[in-house]
Amino acid sequence: MSEAFPRRNGRLHAEALPVERIVEAVGTPVFIYSASELAARYDALDAAFSAVPHSICYAIKANMNLAVVRTLVARGCGVDVTSGGELFRAQQAGGDPSQFVYSGVGKTDAEIDQALAAGIRMFNVESRAELRVIDARAAQRGVVAPVSFRVNPDVDPQTHPYISTGLSSSKFGIPIAEAVDAYAEAKALEHVRVVGVACHIGSQIVVLDPIVDALQRIRDLVIELREAGHTIELLDVGGGLGITYDRERPPSAAEYGGAIVATVGDLGCHLIAEPGRWIAGNAGIFVARVLYSKHNGDTHFAVIDGAMTDLIRPTLYQAYQRIEPVGPPRAGTRVVDVVGPVCESADFLAQQRELPILERDDLLAVHSAGAYGFAMSSNYNGRCRAAEVLVKGDRYEVVRTRDRFEDLIRGESIPEDLIR
Ligand code: LLP
Repeated sequence: MSEAFPRRNGRLHAEALPVERIVEAVGTPVFIYSASELAARYDALDAAFSAVPHSICYAIKANMNLAVVRTLVARGCGVDVTSGGELFRAQQAGGDPSQFVYSGVGKTDAEIDQALAAGIRMFNVESRAELRVIDARAAQRGVVAPVSFRVNPDVDPQTHPYISTGLSSSKFGIPIAEAVDAYAEAKALEHVRVVGVACHIGSQIVVLDPIVDALQRIRDLVIELREAGHTIELLDVGGGLGITYDRERPPSAAEYGGAIVATVGDLGCHLIAEPGRWIAGNAGIFVARVLYSKHNGDTHFAVIDGAMTDLIRPTLYQAYQRIEPVGPPRAGTRVVDVVGPVCESADFLAQQRELPILERDDLLAVHSAGAYGFAMSSNYNGRCRAAEVLVKGDRYEVVRTRDRFEDLIRGESIPEDLIR
């Protein structure tokens, strides 16, 4: 993979552009994405499955910026959506709904109607109750909904508990032991058509064993379902391939695709993969400016203008994200907490991190911020959400403007009658 954020002449670049040049024009905090890296990563995953019929359906939750999604769908990528809002975004980005799959445990009637109207490829159904609602909504429109069940194989993905989804204790999917009955029920309904099986066990998975283990169980199920007379054309293997934040050594795209094809490739199914993080994570950085250096007791702080409201992963998952100065690093280092302005002690991007000496106005780049960064941001503490920039070669464009104060109060009103 090309290096999306190289250091040249001591200065961090985004592709061929000095990051400082973007920041001068756009300000901080800002997310910067590499269009070339996004495209290269999609291409690498696509190639990894080339031995079998397949589709890559990008998990749009990772980064839903229209320009990012457009970069991918323009190359033929499909989309995995989990809400009506994501479906809308995927369509606004120019995606083809016949290449969309819809996962999620709580699809509302309105969302099901929206997906039926759009003509998506497959609903990944997460309960038998949901199956009946989809059947009823499809009947009302006089259509037949293509469905698979998201089957929970009860496998531990060996990742953070908040992003483990394939254990029997999790809210996701239906237990594998109930799958045969659930498919029988689907077969008896008139307005759903069984087209496949889906499975997603978790995120930031850096070892292949749990993926292969889960798919071996799914493979047995597919054979059993076919014996029971079901047509299983599509096999959705979920997302979850991890990336390097620190020192993780996740499998390459080729190893990941190869292992999946070796496990289920002979079933003759069209495989669907739903990667989010692997495509977007290391295609983006988050850049913030140092406001103050201070120390309380023995702890040194670098207070920056970015916060947990921009990038909540360190706070929520104790996640490590690599940080480096954008300009040439100063001599000497210091162990610091990199914190934001938000009134929460949990507002940090790094704790006890050894960094070059920092001074007011220095720029810091937080790496691996392209996935679950802006997508999980908020306006808490009255903070304007950051700008987003897409870079290709030596050109860039602001693909989402920084919130203005007016954006913070959009939709609010003051009912004077109720107040006085
Ligand atoms: N498919 C389904 C059904 C999913 O639930 C997810 C992620 C994906 C695909 C994409 O997984 P990926 O390839 O990105 O690992 N906010 C957390 C990650 C939450 C993942 C939720 N589901 C984080 O920042 O680590």
